[in-house]
Amino acid sequence: MPDLQALVTSIHADLAPRFGAGNVADYIPPLAHVDPRKFALAVVTPEGETFAAGDADEPFSIQSISKVFTLTLALGRLGERVWDRVGREPSGDPFNSIVQLEHEQGRPRNPFINAGAIVVADMVLAGHTPREAIGEVLRFVRFLATDDDIAIDEAVARAEKATGDRNFALAHFMHGFGRLTRPVDHVLGLYFHHCAIAMTARQLARAGLFLAAGGRDPLTGARVVAPARARRLNALMLTCGHYDGSGEFAFRVGLPGKSGVGGGILAVAPGRASIAVWSPGLNAVGNSLLGSEALEMLAARAGWSIFGG
Ligand code: DON
Repeated sequence: MPDLQALVTSIHADLAPRFGAGNVADYIPPLAHVDPRKFALAVVTPEGETFAAGDADEPFSIQSISKVFTLTLALGRLGERVWDRVGREPSGDPFNSIVQLEHEQGRPRNPFINAGAIVVADMVLAGHTPREAIGEVLRFVRFLATDDDIAIDEAVARAEKATGDRNFALAHFMHGFGRLTRPVDHVLGLYFHHCAIAMTARQLARAGLFLAAGGRDPLTGARVVAPARARRLNALMLTCGHYDGSGEFAFRVGLPGKSGVGGGILAVAPGRASIAVWSPGLNAVGNSLLGSEALEMLAARAGWSIFGG
């Protein structure tokens, strides 16, 4: 077992001269105002140890990382029927792209691009008011992180709606194909709110621990999902979790991971650790620049790539 605290501390120190690199997402105004020099790295092991460096206790907007949690909820509710309405293939397109939707009759390529996550939000909403469904997602994330302090940043949720033209376009387009069962306003209300969940790197790493431990929370003993489902969630994170940067992330890091435009990434080293990193500056395809580099260093130095070596 590597000395994880020494590893985490050394990665923080190695990257410190470059804190602030990349471009902060500016299409949602509250995200544009985040200090680009923030950096956090947190590693939680199935034994319950946490190793952290930097701003690991500062909440940030988890954005698209929340799509892992809503997909987990939808699978719990609908099982394999989820896949009737959304695919499991990488898109090779940006997260907010509309181009494939017309060719593929409004069925999104995968649950992590925006169109797919909007369909998943429609599934989570079924039988609920938007307010109830938002509460259900938040309760689930709090349960996974064993932390009731996690909250939704309402200012971010409002800004997402105010700047959400492309998401409205995607949702209306899919509604036009009969792919959504609920009104667009309700579905996007849920989508904008789950993207606006704020968590610290420590909380996020803790929430992802079930994915590193075969679907069971090893610290509480709770069975979150079956082992086969955890394996498949990890497979989707590996192949689709970084949009058209997913191949590059697999090549360089070699771990399932899900990014968000807030600069966070949740990564899973199966059997070994759940990892959260936060650095707001993004690369050209909208994934955290230094966050990806931190994970590349961690996977290489700890020998954690799922591809060996
Ligand atoms: O849909 C949006 O624009 C955002 N709320 C979420 C986007 C996001 O995080 C994409 N990920 N890298």
